[in-house]
Amino acid sequence: MKFANRLDAIETSAIRELFKLLGKPGIISFAGGFPDPALFDVEGIREATAAVLANQPGAVLQYGATEGWQPLREGISAFMADKGSQVTPDGLIVTTGSQQALDLIGKTMISPGDKVIVEAPTFLATIQCFRLYGADIVGAPIDADGVKVDVLEQLIEQHKPKLVYLIPTFGNPSGATLSRERRLRILEIAARTQTLVVEDDPYGELYFGAPPPPSLLALSEQVPGSREWLAHCGSFSKILSPGLRVGWMIAPAQLLAKATMCKQFSDAHTSNLTQATAAHYLTLGRLHPTLDKVRAVYAHRAQTMAQCLKRDLGDAIEFNAPQGGMFFWARLTQGRNAADFAKRAIEKLVAFVPGAPFYAHDPDPSTLRLSFATADVAKIEEGIARLRQAL
Ligand SMILES: Cc1ncc(COP(=O)(O)O)c(C=O)c1O
Repeated sequence: MKFANRLDAIETSAIRELFKLLGKPGIISFAGGFPDPALFDVEGIREATAAVLANQPGAVLQYGATEGWQPLREGISAFMADKGSQVTPDGLIVTTGSQQALDLIGKTMISPGDKVIVEAPTFLATIQCFRLYGADIVGAPIDADGVKVDVLEQLIEQHKPKLVYLIPTFGNPSGATLSRERRLRILEIAARTQTLVVEDDPYGELYFGAPPPPSLLALSEQVPGSREWLAHCGSFSKILSPGLRVGWMIAPAQLLAKATMCKQFSDAHTSNLTQATAAHYLTLGRLHPTLDKVRAVYAHRAQTMAQCLKRDLGDAIEFNAPQGGMFFWARLTQGRNAADFAKRAIEKLVAFVPGAPFYAHDPDPSTLRLSFATADVAKIEEGIARLRQAL
């Protein structure tokens, strides 16, 4: 078959190939990006699903509005207000996961050859999605405080990108969190250079100690003109359940209207049943206690992983322990290659993802990502001990 030219630049992700090996019996996996299913509030979701099917069966099983189920748009508006962002229900659309919001941004904004700046490293699916629309992707370096703003500013001046895509809080894969100062500077640069900044924030609620700095969206109120150049993608995937496929997009009215039009051709609307379930769930008062539990469990796992990495791998590895989210981003020292290490690790029945695919270009082959979300503390201890044997 002759497929569309746009697919020429896209390969099956190296990560998917690796996932095929994860079925080996006895393997301990730090490779996935999934939340721990044992932490899903099944009882709450069951209660919410039963309530919406009992109360409005016709409506929740029917077609619905492309913009989203109105009570959920109101619920998300209140959820965002809690986090310091003022968004009216009609200032957001519900999307089928935040992945769809990213796709709609690609579809509405990117023409072949357009420059797009992303963090190096960044979320692999975004790189692939934006490439599908023909983006010429430029990577901006990061450190423990997120993207290096001076370099980002130079890259914006140089490339005049169509947009800048950032995961400012507990990045995937970097685990890094952008400091408040850098957030304010990015907003100032966006407003001054009239550059669209896309803030992807699926992990912001998963903090271990003090909450992270406010989102770019929340801070935009302090930086005149910046809100007009900001899109924000949110999701219930990492805090409630990814299977519901409920995310959202907040954007300037013009962009939101174009994205809504494109969503009509894509899936018409997100499932009313899962949207109504999420909306009802938000009224149950169960989200905060659930989140408290998830934060405590992930914090303990992250702490264990940091201790084990130090104890078992010592000087062979460098990392900054994340303050939230689901990932450690690490670098092997002494010129070790993470892809080779991953192969040896699989033989020892432990898996992680080598870091190279997370770079749009010029990968650092010594990097790797380890997720601590799904393995319990005993598995983390055993898995990191196996990594030492694979060194
Ligand atoms: C940074 C980032 N953005 C977006 C997504 C997509 O999540 P969802 O479509 O489930 O909301 C993920 C999922 O892992 C992610 O890590």
